[in-house]
Amino acid sequence: MGAFSYGQNDALQDLKKWKSQGRREVIDFFAREVYGVVPAAKVSAKWKLDRESVLADGAITRREYLLSLADQLEARVLVYLPKSEKSVPAFLGLNFGGNQSLEDDEWITSIKDGKRGSAAERWPVQMIISQGFAVVTVYCGDFDPDHDDQFQNGVHALFGEKRDEESWGTISGWAWGLSRVLDQLSKVPEIDEDRVAVIGHSRLGKTALWAGAFDERFAMVVSNNSGCGGAALSRRRQGETVEKINTRFPHWFSQSYKKFNNKEEDLLFDQDQLVACVAPRPIYVASASEDSWADPVGEFLSLQSAASVYGLFGMKGLADREFPSPGEVLSGDGQWYHLRMGRHDITPWDWERYLKAASLLKKK
Ligand code: GCU
Repeated sequence: MGAFSYGQNDALQDLKKWKSQGRREVIDFFAREVYGVVPAAKVSAKWKLDRESVLADGAITRREYLLSLADQLEARVLVYLPKSEKSVPAFLGLNFGGNQSLEDDEWITSIKDGKRGSAAERWPVQMIISQGFAVVTVYCGDFDPDHDDQFQNGVHALFGEKRDEESWGTISGWAWGLSRVLDQLSKVPEIDEDRVAVIGHSRLGKTALWAGAFDERFAMVVSNNSGCGGAALSRRRQGETVEKINTRFPHWFSQSYKKFNNKEEDLLFDQDQLVACVAPRPIYVASASEDSWADPVGEFLSLQSAASVYGLFGMKGLADREFPSPGEVLSGDGQWYHLRMGRHDITPWDWERYLKAASLLKKK
């Protein structure tokens, strides 16, 4: 496996240039040519505590907040807080199946009578809370439904926009939603909004990466099994390719992304540069050994390539590490990677490692 190198962005030689120009060029490219541009207009936001309950003899406070955008769209935000004298860091991530998928408990407002507790393994709330972190989650469909509906609803409908080639797709809509939740976390006194890690699995791992690269207020990024359009390098064309993803999920990205179908070499920047936009903030990329569709090697090489930008900040990242064997964790300065044994998923095993890496948010 050869080292992968940038070569496109000469700002990479110089921290000042990277900060003043290079990073902006990369973000601009990914907005216009990959995920789609968010309209510049601002929408109004209202945040309201809807309900609260106390669990585990007072060790956990659970709440549902309502985030209303432009008085049109309502997202229900489920929050778990550990008992703490001081404000705590948090993990913020979207969920696939509705908030009720986190726990088999009637208390949680259900999305379309969805199955309760079906994603409990993916969200080991007790474990996260016991390590002193809050959990904040929203059903991704509250921001945009995950199907090709010509952007008639969800966040896209809030702007009355005229769409063009570069207009935002669903992943950009989800990422924007995450930022709108972050806007409100200063109103949750138990959470320190400056110490929020954005996390996601698979399509939501692509979303977490785009959200965290774009919005520098996120203190850490965890992108789990994110594959094509996430951490994996597109130019390798391993597993899922740009053409495959654009065909099966035409609504995820901008229309302009389609021109790279089978033409990955024309991409001005590959996904490694997006990962680099997270620097110097900590980033954790993780793969699973049986998840060849997401191209684990491509996910690792992308992270490793981004180490050059961490280097500009005087951080080593995973610059000189070998691709690990299953079960191994690579922890560098600002960068982490692991290859979990098994299939495409996010499991308590992954979370244990994320929590360990995120412990640096507790020291701030
Ligand atoms: C499909 C898709 C992937 C995506 C995954 C998921 O497999 O091809 O790009 O990551 O779904 O979100 O579960």
